[in-house]
Amino acid sequence: MNVKRNFPNSRLRRLRTSDNLIKLVSETSLSSNDLIQPLFIKENLKGTEPIDSMPNILRFSAESVLDEVEDLLNSGINSIALFPVIEESKKDDHGKEALNNSNLICESIQSIKKRFPEIIIIADVALDPYTNHGHDGIIKDNYVDNDLTLDVLKSQSILLAESGADIIAPSDMMDGRIGVIRKALEEANYKNTILLSYAAKYNSKFYGPFRDAVNSAGNLAGASKSSYQMSFHNKNEAIHEVAMDISEGADIVMIKPGMPYLDIISLVKDTFKVPTFAYQVSGEYSMLKLAINKGWLDENVMLESLVGFKRAGADAVLTYAAKEISKEITSK
Ligand code: PBG
Repeated sequence: MNVKRNFPNSRLRRLRTSDNLIKLVSETSLSSNDLIQPLFIKENLKGTEPIDSMPNILRFSAESVLDEVEDLLNSGINSIALFPVIEESKKDDHGKEALNNSNLICESIQSIKKRFPEIIIIADVALDPYTNHGHDGIIKDNYVDNDLTLDVLKSQSILLAESGADIIAPSDMMDGRIGVIRKALEEANYKNTILLSYAAKYNSKFYGPFRDAVNSAGNLAGASKSSYQMSFHNKNEAIHEVAMDISEGADIVMIKPGMPYLDIISLVKDTFKVPTFAYQVSGEYSMLKLAINKGWLDENVMLESLVGFKRAGADAVLTYAAKEISKEITSK
């Protein structure tokens, strides 16, 4: 790397003299295949409803989500991540609705797969959409109990695999859950069910709008997830988390949130060289979208932010902007 790079032998602007040249030498590209659309499905809803803190994003009924999936496929998006919004009356302190085999998410997976067998469905594993306290696990003595929670996550995962989910994505951050779930999947003969681990998931205020979207914010009542999600001061710990999840049987690892954590994405990809996803979370999306809608930022900032993820080393990105960006890049 000791080559002399002197002017005028080197004029970096030569390769920027036309759009076609710029594209010809571009190092990173973003395609529809890199984008995953998260979708909120709400019980007992007619049609769709907006989410106040997430501009242009809707909650879908179990029926209307089918049309949305069709639209996504037509827009070039082949992967979706589903999040349930269940009736408050079904939430309890153990999140037992998560283990009901005809709950909203199991039925939705089945009906989506029936009509669109080719779509890749990612199903979240965690208890927060089902608990009346909004935490991702079971509380004992004022503490989210790791090992008690593992048992439930294991059963929840098997149920999601049975329902037809292609990818099971534990987002709960309990220790040891990937190993427990992988073993249970093997034993139940779901040998090709993919585990996408939210391996380095930080305790972040950028999740705020998501918690509104799934109605867990009120239940959480400002309580923190700091006893299980990572401290945003840490980087070495992310390596430790990812290493454990890979050795326990994760096929894909994920970093979350995205934009303030591009250093972690880059480090994880360089260190482990395994499929690495990133989640551009609700707060990141809403910040950009609100500013775009107000005319304060050009709409291209969304694409710019997503290419940033790819440049950092992400193989795919979960983003609420998946559909619109896919339409945009395929029409260019
Ligand atoms: C919960 C879960 C969260 C998100 C995905 N799964 C929120 C949380 O941990 O409180 C956040 C996604 C987003 O903000 O877009 N298991």
